[in-house]
Amino acid sequence: MGDIRAEIAALRKERDAVILAHTYQPGAVQDCADYVGDSYGLSVEASRTAASVIIFCGVRFMAETAAILNPSRTVILPEPLAGCPMADMITAVELAELKARHPGHLVMCYVNSTAEIKALSDVCCTSSNAEKIARKLPADRSIIFVPDRHLGSWVQERTGRDMVLWDGFCPTHLRIEPGMIIVARKEHPGAEVLIHPEATHECRVLADAVLSTGGMCSHAAASDTTEFIIATETGLLHPLRKNNPGKRFFAVSEEVVCPNMKRVTLPSIRNALMGTGGRAVTIDRETAAKALRSLERMLALGG
Ligand code: 13P
Ligand code: SF4
Repeated sequence: MGDIRAEIAALRKERDAVILAHTYQPGAVQDCADYVGDSYGLSVEASRTAASVIIFCGVRFMAETAAILNPSRTVILPEPLAGCPMADMITAVELAELKARHPGHLVMCYVNSTAEIKALSDVCCTSSNAEKIARKLPADRSIIFVPDRHLGSWVQERTGRDMVLWDGFCPTHLRIEPGMIIVARKEHPGAEVLIHPEATHECRVLADAVLSTGGMCSHAAASDTTEFIIATETGLLHPLRKNNPGKRFFAVSEEVVCPNMKRVTLPSIRNALMGTGGRAVTIDRETAAKALRSLERMLALGG
């Protein structure tokens, strides 16, 4: 492993590359990245980087977002098959039909969506800024929210906005069940339960705080509490434990794993840097230009 890390470091320099990794990635991948963060942080980092090549350790929609925000860079997905099933739960045709059924509604899309969906939306959001953005949209307009009905219902509960929710969901977060939270609380009395808004309403109401992955990291670091039950993808336990050595973190269930997020390995990063693996993300110009508008609105409203 030592050797492959050295190889990656040398290749990164040679290719003038930056390695970005989501906090759901395997620990070894996070440890070799230049920047580790949530969807929002990664979007911002991708829009700012001066590196010629972005190696995006995450799933396709994230790499697409980086490519749209920084079109002069080459964005490489080390594992081209790493997709997000939720992002594929709505097509451009379905969204166009939904818009036609609800004329006058604004379309807000979760960043976990394809470039085509972003292109048809008024504004994009991540789980860390969805509530803030919904509050800033004109009060006299209703909102179509795609594709995650759970994040959508969370925003609806928090803001009281009139919203039409698409029926998408995250299969990984749906593995979290109320009984798991109840058992985990019994096993770790005094621990705070932090849950991601992609989880169901029945689970969210049992938690102490509903937070994006980035929100969980800042909350855990700032809190006086020393024990936490983490109800999201288990990859997040890695940075939480690494950055908070005096605190203890327990997964609500070890089964909350996103198989797509776990595809990337150190050899796949090396191969992507060598040009023998991975795939550069390409998006047609018109779609990218339209999708950029909804991402730029997100950065303007949700920063
Ligand atoms: P964050 O927006 O919290 O990074 O989450 C992304 C994601 O894919 C959650 O399943
Ligand atoms: Fe998609 Fe869920 Fe995996 Fe996030 S955890 S990438 S929403 S399938």
